[in-house]
Amino acid sequence: MRAMRILLPALVLVMTVSCGPREVRSTVNAGADVERQIDQLLAKMTLAEKIGQMNQVSAGGDVSRYAESLRNGQVGSILNEVDPARINEFQRITVEESRLGIPLLVGRDVIHGFHTVFPIPLGLAATFDPELVEEGARVAAAEAVAQGIRWTFSPMLDIARDPRWGRMAEGSGEDPWLDARMGEAMVRGYQGEVPGPSSMAACVKHFAGYGAAEGGRDYNSTFLTERQLRNVILPPFEAAVKAGALTLMTSFNDNDGIPSTANSFLLKDILRNEWGFGGLVVTDWNSMGEMIAHGFGTDRKEVARLAANAGVDMDMMTFGFLSHLEELVRSGQVKEAVIDEAVRNILRVKFVLGLFEHPYVDEAAAASVQYAPAHLETARKTAEESVILLKNDGLLPLSSGRIRTILVTGPMADAPHDQLGTWSFDGEKSHTVTPLKALQERFPGKVVYVPGLTYSRQQRSRFDDVVAAARRADVVLAFLGEEAILSGEAHSLADLNLIGSQSELLAALKAAGKPVVATVMAGRPLTIERDLPNCNAMLYAFHPGTMGGPALVNILMGDVNPSGKTPVTFLRTVGQVPMYYSHTMTGRPYNGETLLDGIGPEAGQTSLGNTSYYLDAGAYPLFPFGYGLSYTDFTFEDITIDQDSYPVDGTIRVSYTLSNTGRYDGTAVPQVYIRDLVGSLTRPVKELKHFRRVRLGAGESIRLTDEIPVSDLAFWGADGQKKVEPGEFQLWVAGDSASGDPVTFSVR
Ligand code: NOJ
Repeated sequence: MRAMRILLPALVLVMTVSCGPREVRSTVNAGADVERQIDQLLAKMTLAEKIGQMNQVSAGGDVSRYAESLRNGQVGSILNEVDPARINEFQRITVEESRLGIPLLVGRDVIHGFHTVFPIPLGLAATFDPELVEEGARVAAAEAVAQGIRWTFSPMLDIARDPRWGRMAEGSGEDPWLDARMGEAMVRGYQGEVPGPSSMAACVKHFAGYGAAEGGRDYNSTFLTERQLRNVILPPFEAAVKAGALTLMTSFNDNDGIPSTANSFLLKDILRNEWGFGGLVVTDWNSMGEMIAHGFGTDRKEVARLAANAGVDMDMMTFGFLSHLEELVRSGQVKEAVIDEAVRNILRVKFVLGLFEHPYVDEAAAASVQYAPAHLETARKTAEESVILLKNDGLLPLSSGRIRTILVTGPMADAPHDQLGTWSFDGEKSHTVTPLKALQERFPGKVVYVPGLTYSRQQRSRFDDVVAAARRADVVLAFLGEEAILSGEAHSLADLNLIGSQSELLAALKAAGKPVVATVMAGRPLTIERDLPNCNAMLYAFHPGTMGGPALVNILMGDVNPSGKTPVTFLRTVGQVPMYYSHTMTGRPYNGETLLDGIGPEAGQTSLGNTSYYLDAGAYPLFPFGYGLSYTDFTFEDITIDQDSYPVDGTIRVSYTLSNTGRYDGTAVPQVYIRDLVGSLTRPVKELKHFRRVRLGAGESIRLTDEIPVSDLAFWGADGQKKVEPGEFQLWVAGDSASGDPVTFSVR
């Protein structure tokens, strides 16, 4: 599959966009011929036809309802139609019966797989394996394109540091570096090396700041400074745009008072002028209309004007452009040049995707592509790599020889829909392999299934039936967590403990005296501290998709050694939000002060230590970013760098010896962190700058060298410029963000 990239002749011409004094290379190089064709087409279009291109409609299921608008050229794109025959009919009316025959761009939320569902994006990030994630995105594109879908609203690149926010599930977690690598991989996977007729256009979203919703409540306002935007939130977007993403979506939130859909600083100054984005910008669903609710405009006409003038090209479901742009142009409130630019961006994407030459899909071929064995295989492998081992007292891997009876229990053991996770509209229950199914297949006659709780929120005070079954079993496998519906859009939570009576179920199982493995499937890092003592081992699987069952069973049985790493900090309690590894340092760093239980009733104010921590929850999370156990052990030794001092355009070569000192073959994920000790701004105490996956046999050692360009240490400083500030740095290599001993170097 890795070789299955789209290889079209590289287009030679480099387009540029003008941005004042300097010229920026366009991120979408369609070539001079295409730009000429766009100009010719544009010259033939009436204002109404141009505005029609800027209108996107959710048209699933009903062609006749839209036929008139299609014929009149009032629709540039549809979303939410997945039937290839109907998609062809939508196209046929548009291409053959509208005056100019400009094909439709057909979009769908293909977020982590189409029919074959992969782990949710947070699970994809846990693999720390961009190559495999790219392969998965290629599978998603192959299945969706086969049905006529040429545009997905993915990847979501919102940095998320608050697990209450349900949409943390849809992104790569808390770290800009990891997020950027995942974003680039997905863009390459969906679109291929050079976008063409077999590509699905990527849409980077939500631009920008959406993941910083106050209180973790979806859609909420954000208050990010320009520096935070530039240093934390925007780098993944820039990386994905520069990887060639053809489209971008504005976000629902207002940042510091300005809704993203009217934010010309983001959409013009940064996106177009600094990054040279050459694709199209679409609003989120009715995010133009929602500016009225925000209190940023009085009516649809006003918000249409604000959005168009800010740099939005396409309106998803507000119909503000369709209803008002013509009038706004005629009255001079929106210049026709603005419309022309938007339409150019839209047509460019349509040309690049080859839609003019290949508007139709081969209906007969579509079905055979779905759930192809190679797709299921990639989904299984990805799910395996996404699973994180959080605790193991030696019980895992299980040894099948000694097992006669396995008790399978818990609400997620056989939840075929829920293990697919949020945004899996097209994945089907009937194709999902649950842990129960996979175990029954592997151990015929040995599996006893007593769910205990049929759904996560169920309340139960006694578990006599489950406990009785546990006593008769050799091992207890409890599958806990949260259903798909508890995370995702609009599904924020204020309490992150295992919901319902699940913790009580686990405690009852432990009390039964048999070895217990808890597997948590969820859309976010739940606060599972109280559950850890009640199991011998714990696996964490962000909703793992179609092949989650076999993947988990392969890990439980040791066919696969777990290698997933936390893409986000796991908190002890929700009160620690936000807590993330790359924080800046306070003037009073925590130094191991007394917690509440060490403070006597007579204590005065000064005894509290005056450093930064919680009296009741300390200063540390439950598990740090980048953490995940293996069945084997790895050491990182003899870490050296090739120089003591580097020029700003130099490259740091860090070498280290990685050893597998345990009894099993396994995969390590060496992570390179740096710290910029003093800056014009306070700097993060650590920042991930490199990672890779390395497979090593039991007892093997290897000397590795990673290269870090010094330019990767640049940040937007106090003077508003992005550069590497000369000075002292630390660097270290470790298996997670909380370990490792630094070496020092300087940049001159
Ligand atoms: C709203 C969501 O915020 C966005 O992520 C999604 O792509 C659109 N709806 C389209 O379904």
